[in-house]
Amino acid sequence: MRSNPLFVPRVDAALPAIGPPTSPPPATDTAFSSAQFAALAELNQALECELLHCQEKLNLVCAISARVATLRSVDDIESALLGDLGTMLDADALFLDRSGCCLRVSLGTTAAGSAPGAAQVRAALAPYVEAARVGRRVIAVPDCGALGGARVLLGRLPRLESEAGVVLALRGSTRAPFDATDVLAAEAVLAYGAETLSNVAMQRHLHRTTLETVYVLVNAIDAKDNYTSDHSERVGALARATGQRLGLPQEQLQTLEWAALRHDVGKIGIPEHILNKPGKLDPDEWELMQRHPVIGHEILKPVTNFEPFLNAVLYHHENHDGSGYPEGIAGHDVPLEARIVHVVDIFDALTTDRPYRRAFSREQALGMMERDAGTVSDPDITAALVHVVRSGALFTAGDFGHLRANGANAGS
Ligand SMILES: [Fe+2]
Repeated sequence: MRSNPLFVPRVDAALPAIGPPTSPPPATDTAFSSAQFAALAELNQALECELLHCQEKLNLVCAISARVATLRSVDDIESALLGDLGTMLDADALFLDRSGCCLRVSLGTTAAGSAPGAAQVRAALAPYVEAARVGRRVIAVPDCGALGGARVLLGRLPRLESEAGVVLALRGSTRAPFDATDVLAAEAVLAYGAETLSNVAMQRHLHRTTLETVYVLVNAIDAKDNYTSDHSERVGALARATGQRLGLPQEQLQTLEWAALRHDVGKIGIPEHILNKPGKLDPDEWELMQRHPVIGHEILKPVTNFEPFLNAVLYHHENHDGSGYPEGIAGHDVPLEARIVHVVDIFDALTTDRPYRRAFSREQALGMMERDAGTVSDPDITAALVHVVRSGALFTAGDFGHLRANGANAGS
């Protein structure tokens, strides 16, 4: 059983005898002698040092946890954890054993020359590495003969779904062995790191699941409406590029692209003979067609993850002057993402062949859009789109494009 570091005695001081005396002592024997006072004072000082030592370690654990909590990528989290762990343990060298390979971790300030190589470390410590990997506890080896008496500390660090790594911290034989405080601090840091990496894995999984759901929805629309084949994907990519031109932050760009991909999902609820009618829609058909933003909103609303995109789906046919549908709102009352999707949607419609007309050229379409800016479309967003198209930097693949390129599908 591990001792509590707060109570690890560092001084072999003789404590005064405590307990009932066998016979009433003389009055002079009830007081401590000066030697016993000195021993107590020395013990108190040692305990105080131990307490400070623990406090410092605790502060470091908290600082590492706070830093790691600000990071989002697996590589950044792991790199920060390993570097900080090496510093906290005052290690001379740090190694990471994973997937049958042992690599030295750069600690920056450490003199590398005297430390053993990764292969030598792995050969000397293989049984301990496997014990740490399986046992999930930090192990301290006070004197590793195969490494010239090096002091070693080993702890497990899982990384996503792949094989768990084992961290090995080394101090030279002339240094103090890792003590119980080091073990507890390393356990705290590694446990927190494992938790953080696991959360990142879950977020990635959720992100991919959401992306695959979108993929299914977009495919469903494409299968039903000849016009929308690839239309959603083009609008997604161009909306992202237009958002970049407008200076939107990365997170908002992703929201925008995903909103653009879903904007016509409500067409699932429109009969195919209306969607693919070669001629002009009659008033009843047009009224039904105008319901697709509301239908799309209703389809997506139950999915919590889709909440950020609902407004863009609902309002992507609202015009700048309030003459659009479904609610006839105008100007900046229309959410930004919806205004961007609206502008990009018009451009893609104009530059696509329809059953009743040929596609306009890009320049023809841009001219028509510039003419209608301020009435049909938001003038600032129209200007951003015009710049993007004319600069030729429009079709940069976002998340969805990458998913398509990788051949993923909902069944995989
Ligand atoms: Fe639409």
